[in-house]
Amino acid sequence: MMRWMGALALGFALARGAEAQEHQYVGAAKCKTCHGKELIGDQYGVWKTKDPHRRAFETLRSEASLAIAAQRGLAKPPHEVPECLECHVTAFGAPATQVVTPLDPAAGVQCESCHGPGRDYRKKKIMSDHEQAHAKGLWHADEDPAICTTCHNERSPTFDAKRYSLPGGKHAGFDFEQAKAKIPHPIPEDVKGRYLELEKSRRGAGDGEEEEE
Ligand code: HEC
Ligand code: HEC
Ligand code: HEC
Ligand code: HEC
Repeated sequence: MMRWMGALALGFALARGAEAQEHQYVGAAKCKTCHGKELIGDQYGVWKTKDPHRRAFETLRSEASLAIAAQRGLAKPPHEVPECLECHVTAFGAPATQVVTPLDPAAGVQCESCHGPGRDYRKKKIMSDHEQAHAKGLWHADEDPAICTTCHNERSPTFDAKRYSLPGGKHAGFDFEQAKAKIPHPIPEDVKGRYLELEKSRRGAGDGEEEEE
């Protein structure tokens, strides 16, 4: 009986491990092929030019980072040690088999840190079907704070328990709703759920030039 239960528990553990590794990372450049387009809202361009996550690796070379490293007595520069990289780049420590092409650490925290490894959901037809996309590994970034708090927690040397103000004079080191609002990159309201249809009608009209800008 005990042995049977042990085997069952092990079976579950293995199944969970396999599930976590089932989807692979492809990197932000792959997302860019569609999410760099004006029509869909250019989420790639927004991330590249405005999102603090894009700078997360550069930050590890800053004066502030060197000061933290000195204070902690790190033997190597912050941008070379797991103690810092784990939250300042995407897929740090993921097994090589889970990464299709090596991700460039200099790109910092990329799309897939929040949306999940994208190899299986990145196809246009799957992406356009909310249910299917999630079945293929897209995470619920809009409603799951745990995605953020794997990095936004007190293990961050610069974590500030009073960073966010809450109603009633209270504070928090992280507030999901306020934090989301600081990194907006929406699909335009009139395009949401209709991208494929709109793209097709543009092509049909022989009018591809608008997508160039
Ligand atoms: C892989 C780790 C990681 C994940 C996951 C992550 N972040 Fe961050 N986040 C960072 C790092 C690192 C910075 C600092 C970037 C810099 O300035 O160099 C940051 C900075 C920020 C900032 C600016 C500083 C602040 O707190 O006001 C916001 C806002 C933010 N993240 C929101 C989010 C939200 C919302 C999520 C989840 C949907 C999220 N982050 C998920 C690592 C992460
Ligand atoms: C547990 C995840 C985590 C680890 C580990 C981590 N960071 Fe960060 N780092 C963050 C997050 C999240 C932010 C943004 C919010 C905050 O400060 O907590 C950030 C922000 C920063 C900032 C401020 C960026 C800015 O411009 O405001 C610096 C500097 C920094 N980290 C340096 C380091 C160094 C150096 C290490 C290694 C000793 C390190 N971090 C380890 C998650 C982490
Ligand atoms: C730090 C976490 C984080 C990163 C990095 C990030 N996103 Fe997001 N993304 C979110 C969150 C959270 C939402 C949901 C926002 C909401 O509902 O308020 C979202 C929403 C979206 C949406 C849906 C918008 C809508 O209107 O439904 C798309 C598309 C998207 N992201 C694509 C990308 C792409 C492409 C990248 C990389 C170039 C990227 N994201 C990088 C957290 C992130
Ligand atoms: C081949 C084109 C293509 C690629 C590549 C692609 N997407 Fe998408 N994505 C779409 C389309 C099309 C939609 C649906 C737009 C609509 O009609 O609302 C979408 C929707 C999304 C949404 C919103 C899904 C929902 O149901 O709320 C997110 C988040 C997203 N993509 C993230 C990503 C990320 C991250 C990557 C890279 C790993 C990526 N996409 C790669 C075409 C693509």
